[in-house]
Parts: sequence; C-alpha cells; structure tokens
Amino acid sequence: MKKWWHDKVAYQIYPKSFCDSNGDGIGDLRGIISKLDYLKKLGVDIIWLSPIYCSPMVDQGYDISDYYNIDSQFGTMEDMDELLREAKARNMYILMDLVVNHCSDKHEWFKKALEDPEGEYADYFYFREGKGNKPPCNWRSYFGGSVWEKVPNTNKYYLHVFAKEQPDLNWENPKLKNEIYKMINWWLEKGLAGFRIDAIINIKKDLRFQDFPADREDGLCSIDRMLESAEGVLDMLKELKEETFEKFGAFTVGEVFNEKEGELYKFIGKDGYFSTMFDFEMEMLGKSEKGWYDNRTFTPNELRTSIFDSQIKTADVGFKANIIENHDEPRGVSNYIPKEDLNDKSKKMLAAISLMLRGIPFIYQGQELGMTNTKINSVEEFDDIATIDQYNVAIKEGCSKEEALEIVNNYSRDNARTPFQWDDIENAGFTTGTPWIKVNKNYKEINAASQVENEDSVFNFYKKLINLRKSEEFKDAVVYGTFESVLENYDNLFAFYREGSSKKLMLLANYQKEEQTIELPKLYSKVLLNNCDEVKHEKDKIILQGYQVIILVV
Ligand code: GLC
Repeated sequence: MKKWWHDKVAYQIYPKSFCDSNGDGIGDLRGIISKLDYLKKLGVDIIWLSPIYCSPMVDQGYDISDYYNIDSQFGTMEDMDELLREAKARNMYILMDLVVNHCSDKHEWFKKALEDPEGEYADYFYFREGKGNKPPCNWRSYFGGSVWEKVPNTNKYYLHVFAKEQPDLNWENPKLKNEIYKMINWWLEKGLAGFRIDAIINIKKDLRFQDFPADREDGLCSIDRMLESAEGVLDMLKELKEETFEKFGAFTVGEVFNEKEGELYKFIGKDGYFSTMFDFEMEMLGKSEKGWYDNRTFTPNELRTSIFDSQIKTADVGFKANIIENHDEPRGVSNYIPKEDLNDKSKKMLAAISLMLRGIPFIYQGQELGMTNTKINSVEEFDDIATIDQYNVAIKEGCSKEEALEIVNNYSRDNARTPFQWDDIENAGFTTGTPWIKVNKNYKEINAASQVENEDSVFNFYKKLINLRKSEEFKDAVVYGTFESVLENYDNLFAFYREGSSKKLMLLANYQKEEQTIELPKLYSKVLLNNCDEVKHEKDKIILQGYQVIILVV
C-alpha cells in the first residue's frame, strides 16, 4: 500500500549549526524559519530537527532536561509553533528527535531519584547495588568507561550506556512508559509529523546485569554484548507504536543498529513498528569495535557490495532511509572519496548513487553543497564527547599524539557539526557573532549563495536528482521501482537498474579516477542526468570518464 511519505525527500537540520538569527553564535529556530524557502527550492519535504529541547548540552542536546520546552538558546515555544505553521504553509513536515533511552541528569525525575534512591523516581532509572567495591557489572559505555556511576555516600550505582550525564530510563516501569507516551502524544497533537527515534534498541536491557568477557585492558566489554543478549525489545516497540504514533499516522524513522537476523520486517514491514529506519550498512563498513584507531579503509567494490546487499535484503520488506552522512559521522564526501579525487564531479557521483537507491533519501545539512571534513589542529579544539574519548583510546593503544589527532580528524562527529556555509562573508554567513564551533576554512569555495546561482553546482545536481525522483514520468521507477544490480564483473563500477511499471532506468557510476570502458547489456534511449559534458562511445561501448555518473532510460 502506498504511504504519503514514500515519495518524499527528507533533510536533517542540526539546529545549533544551521543558521543563527540573533548573533549569539548558536543556530536557532528563527534561523531555520528564514531558510525554509531555500530548503523548498532544493525539493525537501520532511525536515528532521536534531534535539532542541531544554538541555545542558553535554551531548549536544541528546541529554534532555525538559521534554516539554525549547532550550532558550534555540528560541521559544512560540518560535516552534511558528516553524510548524510556516512549514505547513509550504507543504513541509517537521520531525523532532525522540531521545527516550535516557534523559539528562538535570531532568527533575533524575534529581528526585538521586535525592531518594529508594523512592518512586529511582524506579524511573536503573539503580543497582555494587558488587563489593565494584560496579554491578563490566559493561562499557558508548563514550568510554563503565556504564555505572556511583551515587555518593551509598553503595548504589545508576546505569548510563552513554555519558554519565545521560542516565538510562527504565522502560520496565509502566509509570515511566506512560510519561513518555503522554509526552509523545502531546507533541503529535501540536502538529509534528513524527519523529526520528534515537538509540531505540537500547531501551531493552538484559536485566541480569552480568559480566561478559573483557575485550580491552580496561576490563570492560562492549555494550553490544548486552544488546545481543537482551530479549524483548520488539514488545516494547509494538506497545510504543500502538500508544502513540499509530493514533496520529505519524512518520517515524528509527536509529536502529544491531537488529537481529530475520527481524527487519518487524521494524519496517507492512505492520512494522516504524515507518522506516536508517540504512547504516555503508556507515558501518570498515568500523572496528576496538575504536576509531582500528578502523580500516575499504575499496569501492566493498562499498558496492555493502550497499547493494542491503538493497536486496530490504526489497521485499519495506523502505529504508538512505544516508551518506549525519551528525554522528564524518562528511560523506570525505569518507567515501579519496582526498586526492575529491571534486564536484566525484561528489555528484556519490549523490546520484545515494539518491537513486530504493528508499527514502535523508540529506544532511550541507551535504547538498558537498561540504567536507574540517581540519582540527589540536585535541583541545574538539567539542564532541565521543571524539575526546576516541582520542584517549588511540593514545592508550600506543598511537602517538600526531597519529591520534589524525585518526580523530578523520572520524570526528565535529566534522558534520561545523556551521552551515551560507555565503562567502565572515563566518560563512552563519552568524554575525562568534560561532560556537569554528567554520570550515573552505567556506569561500563551498557555499550556498554561489551554488544556488550556478547551474553546474553540486546543489543544482541534487536538485535535479530530486526533481527526477518526483517527476510524474519517472517517479514510479525511482520511488517504487525494483532494484537490480548489473555488471558486477567490472571493478569500481556501480551499475543498477530501477524498474517501475512503465519505465526502466539504469545508473552507471565509474568509481575511480581512470576512465573505464563498459559494454552495456541493453541499448539506451536517453540520458537523463550526467555529471560530465558528454557520454563517450566507442562502437557500442560506453567509455566512462573518471567518477562519471550517468542515468539512462533503457
Ligand atoms: C544517537 C545520536 C547521537 C547521540 C546518542 C546518544 O546515536 O545520534 O548523537 O550521541 O544517540 O543520545
């Protein structure tokens, strides 16, 4: 059955770094409102806002101290209401980030829990007795160190799978669950279209709280071991959907890692608990559980296999949400294209591959300009909590300071968090004040103002891809069509068909700097999109230039 969101294009805004309207160096809601027309011009329909709720910002808003209010640095509830109205007037939809695995240690529930670790609110969290002088078990938090933090003057600890300022909420407690459902429904009644759902697999714990074999010298084990042994998250998600999203026909996109084999349909199938979930296969490629220092590079062929396998796995189940980057990842173009080959041509190629896949495209702010990783010269300059932890892990594992710095430069989440590059005036037009995080030095070459005007820009290439997806003629193929990979015997070639009921398209991308000659299995009738000036032929063969991508009607 067709759903309203199938043919839409989504866009992630990281509010703190998008557009600052009042000169305090921090992006805000009025800044976002002022840029809705820019997003409309690009072809965006659905906007996901990273968290703007009240927060001490230990993890940039993913630590919420009040779910019912807007943090004053982003604006007011009136601004939020205006954003909802302005979006609606443009047929656009707003999603908020739903962060309910944990809250902030400054949330009133947690403050009350700490005051009385035996009382009602303690049961909103996980408080457990230590084992002698040691925490209850040896799980490592995502941001390093034990998941257990000791409550002063007691032998009790509370659980936090992220930072210690992000205590985990106890989803076994019906009272807590009802508070969460009430809050979600309150926002949906206000006119939100839905949510992006943060770290949701983590809500179910293995309540035995037992040790697993240590996997580093710190004596701790990856939290993934706990996730693998926890049973029952699906029941929780089912109830969550029934109590909230379903009643409003809300659109939901889950941040789901580690789903178990064969369970994809439960998440995004016909009666799935979410509308869609992110496809993280390409983001996970080369990543090591040991830490960023141990990540490995990968070849275009490996990338192709990971993307195509995931397309095939999802085909009969539902739609995944396709990304090349987000606020937790380095910039896609820096991550997937070798530095020496990074140019508008290769950026457009990556864009075409991503937007022509089957699924819902999610574009991260600045991706449409081909924004790149930034360069940070000393560890003190990083803001991100995960980056600082990974730097220390690298040093502990024997890297020199220079090596550790280079590693975290490659993977830091701050790469995606530098201010949006609006134009070539000071601070890239992001703020008239001092930006909270440094602007990427390349803003004079890469910015929206110059790209919107330039027919050949990365921005306008994205726009063309979006127009193609939405066009009456090809929508059936691009949105609903099947995916079929071809020509896999060629190296560094991404080739696939998208076939709808009346049209069949083919994408051909030469993922290398050298040209490559291809024998097509089928004749084509028309070139719909090309990131080069021409399509070269030699008899009935096509010669693709380095990083050329073409979309053909076959
Ligand atoms: C998600 C968010 C990330 C955050 C974490 C804890 O993975 O995307 O930014 O740090 O959850 O909330």
